[in-house]
Amino acid sequence: MKPFCFAKDEIIESKLATSHPLDIGLIRGYAIFDFFRTVGPNPLFLEDYLLRFTNSAKSAHLPLAYSKEDLEQIIHKLIAKNELENGGVRMILTGGISDNFFTPASGDLFLFCEPLSLPSEEKYSKGVKLLPVEYVRPIPKIKTTNYTLPCFLSVDWPSQGAEDVIYHHQGLVSESSRSNIFMVNDGIISTPATHILEGITRKKVMELAANVIVRDIRLDEILVADEVFMTSTTKRIMPITTIGNQVIGTGKPGDQTVSLMAAFENMEKSLLFSSL
Ligand SMILES: Cc1ncc(COP(=O)(O)O)c(C=O)c1O
Repeated sequence: MKPFCFAKDEIIESKLATSHPLDIGLIRGYAIFDFFRTVGPNPLFLEDYLLRFTNSAKSAHLPLAYSKEDLEQIIHKLIAKNELENGGVRMILTGGISDNFFTPASGDLFLFCEPLSLPSEEKYSKGVKLLPVEYVRPIPKIKTTNYTLPCFLSVDWPSQGAEDVIYHHQGLVSESSRSNIFMVNDGIISTPATHILEGITRKKVMELAANVIVRDIRLDEILVADEVFMTSTTKRIMPITTIGNQVIGTGKPGDQTVSLMAAFENMEKSLLFSSL
């Protein structure tokens, strides 16, 4: 079956989707997006993602001609048309064609269904390495398409045995390039408060763990934490066992991390059964 997308108000073959080269999404890197998974054909936490996407559009001064309810209907049609199972759905709103080639205008909405594979079992069982990078994402609360720095850096990650980066600035940790960060110390779970995208997976982990402390976290604290993990839509909960040259805790995924990983999978399964 050919892949289909939603582009310029209709469902069409994905290869026919086009955008103007002078859209500020391309010439200035100004666009927003969001991405969620499906369990089987069922979107996971769809309400949360639609709220974040529509809020991103509003905060980025980009008019969106569709309500959350309209988007939900389009998404269900698109998933059915693509026969998507355990995949991902990407929603993109471009910055538009701007009179002065700069000011946000009225962009194009695109929705794509994509195949998705979760990280390997080995990564979940051994944990992964992050590289510290001094950086803060611009307008971090908005889910923009600006990933210029990590795309550039990612070329060097395989040779350094790293999965990704951990951003810090003035001694404080914010997030990884596409994930939120958590630390466990003396049984207390904490996550950075500022300069982050408020991840949907982060939100669900905070519901599961109930007593997570949201505060500023210093890089020097996290390097000596008992456990560190990151959360994202495409990784769920991933243990971090090395940051730069520093081994975290015992060097193995910690007990709290492992039990949250299991709790998160159970939450997904229970949602799947409740939607059957
Ligand atoms: C910068 C950034 N932080 C955090 C996250 C994690 O958010 P979520 O759990 O909603 O995927 C993402 C996801 O892409 C991200 O791009």
